[in-house]
Amino acid sequence: MLVLGIESSCDDLSMSLVDQGRVLANVTATQTLDHAPFGGVVPEIASRRHLESLEPTLELALQKAGRGLDAVEGVAATFAPGLVGSLLVGLNFAKALAYARGLPFRGVHHIEGHLWSAFLENEERYPFLALAVSGGHTHLYYVRAFGDYEILGHTVDDAAGEAFDKVAKRMGLGFPGGPAVERLAREGDAKAFDFAVPQVKGRPLHTSFSGMKTAAMEYLEGPARDRAADLAASFQRGVVRALTTVCRRALEARPARQLVVAGGVACNGPLRAALAELAAERGVDLVLPAPKYCMDNGAMIAFVGERYLREGRSHPLTLNAQARLPLGVAP
Ligand code: KG4
Ligand code: ZN
Repeated sequence: MLVLGIESSCDDLSMSLVDQGRVLANVTATQTLDHAPFGGVVPEIASRRHLESLEPTLELALQKAGRGLDAVEGVAATFAPGLVGSLLVGLNFAKALAYARGLPFRGVHHIEGHLWSAFLENEERYPFLALAVSGGHTHLYYVRAFGDYEILGHTVDDAAGEAFDKVAKRMGLGFPGGPAVERLAREGDAKAFDFAVPQVKGRPLHTSFSGMKTAAMEYLEGPARDRAADLAASFQRGVVRALTTVCRRALEARPARQLVVAGGVACNGPLRAALAELAAERGVDLVLPAPKYCMDNGAMIAFVGERYLREGRSHPLTLNAQARLPLGVAP
């Protein structure tokens, strides 16, 4: 079933065409340069740029896929969570297309998309443990079947990507911060500064990053003032250890055949390496999306949308956008 997927929850507008789980095209209009001067995403700029990019992005996606709009059999779009203005642009466009062409429509939860981005190029084996780690999420799920997500833990404050971004901003490294911190960290000593793994009382599978972020800010005021690379390497090591710790605990507590890690932070090289080591130790397969599918993309939305639509599980066109909605809760 040829499905058009639209992702617009933050500052990227991405459209993709997927057929039988195969990605025929994935086109992303990024806005990094529009937001860079502000050190973060400005919601109103994001939604206005999306509005301008809708038609050219769709045209390019159809062209790359070598298909006309007539061939599209279903439409999917991210409906939650995210910046509401941004979500509404992609969602409304998707619903209008579905309405005008009489096609089935499915709203897709952004995190569900991220989780399945790992399976654009791999086969799933249940049950699996999934860590969604991005600018807005640090959530750990236990997945027994498609659409069945049990939340095991989450951050109690900042998301891991958000912590990377805030520390990078303070260091003048620009936005998004994760890749910049990773680059700088290559030249630094990861043991130069201590970043203890935070423990959330009574919740061993929860994470917390605000303490680490504050510690980084304090080091930067004093001992790390002239040691940016050492600070970047040490902070990154702290985040990687915190994420690996919760994954290890979850794998000890639950039987799992795969460990899936998705979202922007899953691009991080040292995190990928540490999780590969953990997976080998525990005898589970580590499943990671290709780097191009770690960041927000339409392919993951089209992929999940196609699976629901093939099962006949469409949404009514009255589906609204939601800024916050945990995965696994009915919209
Ligand atoms: O999934 P994503 O594109 O958007 C959200 O849904 O948030 O993730 C973006 C986040 C940003 O916080 C960015 O700094 C982080 O992912 N990120 C990284 C890396 N690449 C992107 N964090 C650490 N290391 C990276 N290489
Ligand atoms: Zn995302």
